[in-house]
Amino acid sequence: MTNDLPMLIQGGMGVGVSSPQLANAVASAGHLGIVSGTGVDTSLYRRLGDGDLDGSQRRALEAFPVPGVAERILEKYYIAGGKAPDARYKSKPMPTIKMSRMAQDLMVASNFVEVFLAKEGHDGPVGINYLEKIQIPHLTSVYGAMLAGVDYVVVGAGIPMTFPGILDDLHEGKAVKYKIDVKGTERGEVIYTHFDPVEYCDGIPLPPTPRPKFLAIVASHVLGTAMERKATGFVDGYIIEYPTAGGHNAPPRGKVQLTPDGEPIYTDRDIPDLGVFRDIGKPFWLAGGYGEPQQVKAALELGATGVQVGTAFAYCEESGFDADIKRRVLELSRSGEAKIYTDAIASPTGFPFKVVELEDTLSDPVVFEKRTRVCDLGYLRTAYKKDNGRVGYRCSAEPVQDYVDKGGTEEGAVGRKCLCNALLANIGLNQIKDDGEVEGILVTSGDDVKNVARFVEPGSDTYYAADVIRYLLPA
Ligand SMILES: Cc1cc2nc3c(=O)[nH]c(=O)nc-3n(C[C@H](O)[C@H](O)[C@H](O)COP(=O)(O)O)c2cc1C
Repeated sequence: MTNDLPMLIQGGMGVGVSSPQLANAVASAGHLGIVSGTGVDTSLYRRLGDGDLDGSQRRALEAFPVPGVAERILEKYYIAGGKAPDARYKSKPMPTIKMSRMAQDLMVASNFVEVFLAKEGHDGPVGINYLEKIQIPHLTSVYGAMLAGVDYVVVGAGIPMTFPGILDDLHEGKAVKYKIDVKGTERGEVIYTHFDPVEYCDGIPLPPTPRPKFLAIVASHVLGTAMERKATGFVDGYIIEYPTAGGHNAPPRGKVQLTPDGEPIYTDRDIPDLGVFRDIGKPFWLAGGYGEPQQVKAALELGATGVQVGTAFAYCEESGFDADIKRRVLELSRSGEAKIYTDAIASPTGFPFKVVELEDTLSDPVVFEKRTRVCDLGYLRTAYKKDNGRVGYRCSAEPVQDYVDKGGTEEGAVGRKCLCNALLANIGLNQIKDDGEVEGILVTSGDDVKNVARFVEPGSDTYYAADVIRYLLPA
């Protein structure tokens, strides 16, 4: 990888939308391709359960440097030829503060696999994206990505204050810890996850883990300033994300006001002051509706190093979205009917979440009401202190009674959607419940989805990452 900073970043899109194939295509062209590190332990074991027909998962696992790990995973989850199409995927351990060795192995190895595949065959820069709010898997995930030589770690959806210091420590082979938000702890009580590379590597000399650059995704200059003052290590730059961006958005500042349709209202107060970032003096990129060449120019004129773009890449051939989703959304975009709803309550994280309105998906209230609630993946669970002093986990999208029994409220569960299952269904890895119910999809994108058909040439029904790059950065 060169030390030049990328002008174009292809944003991390979970779960699996910014696939290794997409990041590979972008990075091969010399721009920053980012895979998502969210939920990849599940996508790895399910791909193995589907027989890993293209052999990519096994090829990457073969390169995993800690002996025994790949073998254990393959033995437990690989099904030669794949499971029957109507059979359930096996279950895997849910993320918990103390993880079993298998849960750790899946997390470390799956992050390794994504980065390894994104880096294959070129020396362009590859990054990995995490959501700060999904805290429990962070240490194992980022270690796996570093074992594969990830060039950038990019973290949003929260305040990733201790990430840079953790990257420094893991680079030096030191044990690390991550503070977990646990509801109901005593004053002064702090609960951490722990990870020790020496212990994990079972006595082999530690494989190299170069220190990746660290970029924080922020929606306000206040966060930028706070990161500069308090981050535990060097922040290499900032991605400043506007509320038009796909995926989760930062909530509006202050008390949240909603439109009559229930969408959060953003005001001038939510516009970040770029002057503050210029004064900080580090590279910054603008994200959220920067999918036009003139906007790239405008960003550069404002002092940005470049832009981060998501939605424009989300429907190209190399993206991980299921082919049928791409086809349907491109059709809606072409006919001018693609619509985005910023759902203030769908996500159990509490952050607004942008949803593409698509028939027969969980964006339709009737389909949503029909789904039997279940919590079997658990990434978005909140940790809480139980009466007996132990840590429990609850999710506002789990069965309502379970949530209430764990101290949640009935109102707090209304309208919450199981993003864990839906986002895996979006990439064709949907679970099938014991009663045969197939987990449904829920597509997210930015406002730019309305125009995403602009990349499709007349007479074609698809486009490639290279088309987006050519469009954004004409020679
Ligand atoms: C399908 C999809 C999934 C996304 N998932 C994530 C994610 O997991 N983490 C993240 O930081 N940003 C996520 N984003 C935001 C993108 O990384 C990027 O910042 C954003 O899409 C830029 O705005 P644009 O969509 O207008 O180009 C997602 C965006 C899309 C379209």
